[in-house]
Amino acid sequence: MMRQAGRYLPEYQQTRAAAGSFLDLCYNPQLATEVTLQPIRRFGFDAAILFSDILVVPHALGQDVRFEEGTGPVLEPVDTPERIAELSSGRLLDHLAPVIETVARLREALPRETTLLGFCGAPWTVASYMIAGQGTPDQAPARVFAYQQRDAMEALIALLVEASADYLVAQLKAGADAVQVFDTWGGNLADELYELFVVAPTVRIVERVRESIPGARIIGFPKGAGPRLPEYFRRTGVNAVGVDWAASRTFVRDQVQAIGPVQGNLDPMALVAGGEALDAAVDATMGAFSGGPFIFNLGHGIVPHTPIAHVERMVARVRGAR
Ligand code: CP3
Repeated sequence: MMRQAGRYLPEYQQTRAAAGSFLDLCYNPQLATEVTLQPIRRFGFDAAILFSDILVVPHALGQDVRFEEGTGPVLEPVDTPERIAELSSGRLLDHLAPVIETVARLREALPRETTLLGFCGAPWTVASYMIAGQGTPDQAPARVFAYQQRDAMEALIALLVEASADYLVAQLKAGADAVQVFDTWGGNLADELYELFVVAPTVRIVERVRESIPGARIIGFPKGAGPRLPEYFRRTGVNAVGVDWAASRTFVRDQVQAIGPVQGNLDPMALVAGGEALDAAVDATMGAFSGGPFIFNLGHGIVPHTPIAHVERMVARVRGAR
């Protein structure tokens, strides 16, 4: 699941309270290992995803980042060329060393058959938070910035490409079996900006990671890409793509799964709903994709009020269908 560890689990709430803040938890290898393992113990998933957040990268580049209860991430906006110029990747891997240590501890703690996934945010999605200083429904501040300050935007994206690639290489070297690149807001750009700020940076990240680690396995998740998915898949050279819940399943089966494995795409709200509606939604995803290479997953993050019994029901149904 996406946000596999999180607020829907009481054991997560408990560990998080012990850690202090959300970022303290991300930078505490012992506790971050513990919360990564919690959903594996409870549900026996085939893969564990490193507990961290995409916004540790801007933090490591020198931006002030906090997570506020109830509001989500709050960053000191980096919204001028001068502020972008102040960012530095000089301390990146020092700053992220506790996260890399978590990866190493996880590889030790997990059974060999449980895949360990590392991740980062894609440059456009991370930049959208860096520029706005918070989550936004439409990424408007970053889109305006991309049109008005093209050179500064390109500089920011280039910095994030380098930082993300170095970070992913460190995760893979520490024991991650594969890494996922989350482009949550990748579907929200006009063609001309989409090519520049979604496709091209991802192409570069994939190239750079594979220069260090030939054959590195990478999953791309360009949420909302819809009809642009086949092009994203072919151009970036990722090994698999994540698919959100709103994508057309027949389109994805015929045009995307024909290229390679897809991951997705249960609506997180079907998981909240539960009951026979959940069963039907699970069957629809399984029915569409189980004829080809496929990783069952949610189409986006699990929400905090999801009942645990619904997760159990979903897992049983997916495994029963196999
Ligand atoms: O999936 C996992 O279990 C691994 C850990 C993980 C988290 N965030 C932990 C987290 C991963 C892969 C992410 C990715 C992430 N973070 C994305 C991309 C994927 C997506 O969901 O779109 C984005 C955009 C973020 C930025 C972020 N982090 C936001 C906007 C928020 C607040 C949203 C909310 O639900 O309140 C977070 C907080 C966050 N990251 C939580 C978790 C478990 C909630 C933590 C808490 O409050 O205790």
